[in-house]
Amino acid sequence: MSESQLWNDVDDYFTTLLAPNDDTLAAALRESEAAGLPSINVAPNQGKLLQILAQIQGARRILEIGTLGGYSTIWLGRALPVDGQLITLEYDLTHAEVARRNLARAGLDKIAEVRVGPALESLPKLADENPEPFDFVFVDADKVNNSHYVEWAVKLTRPGSLIVVDNVVRGGAVADAGSGDPSVQGTRAALELIASHPKLSGTALQTVGSKGYDGFALARVLA
Ligand SMILES: C[S@@+](CC[C@H](N)C(=O)[O-])C[C@H]1O[C@@H](n2cnc3c(N)ncnc32)[C@H](O)[C@@H]1O
Repeated sequence: MSESQLWNDVDDYFTTLLAPNDDTLAAALRESEAAGLPSINVAPNQGKLLQILAQIQGARRILEIGTLGGYSTIWLGRALPVDGQLITLEYDLTHAEVARRNLARAGLDKIAEVRVGPALESLPKLADENPEPFDFVFVDADKVNNSHYVEWAVKLTRPGSLIVVDNVVRGGAVADAGSGDPSVQGTRAALELIASHPKLSGTALQTVGSKGYDGFALARVLA
């Protein structure tokens, strides 16, 4: 058996047992695929991890950067109370429209808002609204801008908030300081910012599973 087949089998077991897709989550993936969206959503067990982390935070307000078809948004939205708010930023109008339909089917359209445009334009507009601080931020868009997203996340959160940055391993290339891949350099810049930022305490983990070899960084906002 290949290594990746083994990772898949173990993820299937974990997911079936602990984080199964219900009809709504399955429909979100089906509709995303039918609309031609790439299958780059989080795995179900990672979606459940995000949900549990948001619940541990007691999150009332969540910011997501990178919506795709709203699959991770549904996991996160379900962590919120009925008067909670989730803002998710998406560059691609087609992705945003699929996500809006998926969120409506999930009954989350009252608390989850999809904002369309490049996140680096949406974030300053959001800041201009002087929003209440976000309790949880999930960064999962274009990796080249990861350090900018972490900077914005710090501005838009409060002491105790949690920032999760997805896909930080880059197939192992994250350890290569000389990599010519802008996504690797963007991710390294984000990790170095987390390491050096006086208001952040962070770590990063490698993972394997149905989505292959990957990993994520976690950073807690300090007082
Ligand atoms: C990895 S996918 C998000 C997956 C989603 N979080 C999930 O797990 O279901 C990344 C998304 O970020 C969007 N994106 C890429 N660059 C962006 C940018 N500059 N601003 C906003 N969204 C962007 C892409 O169009 C894509 O839909």
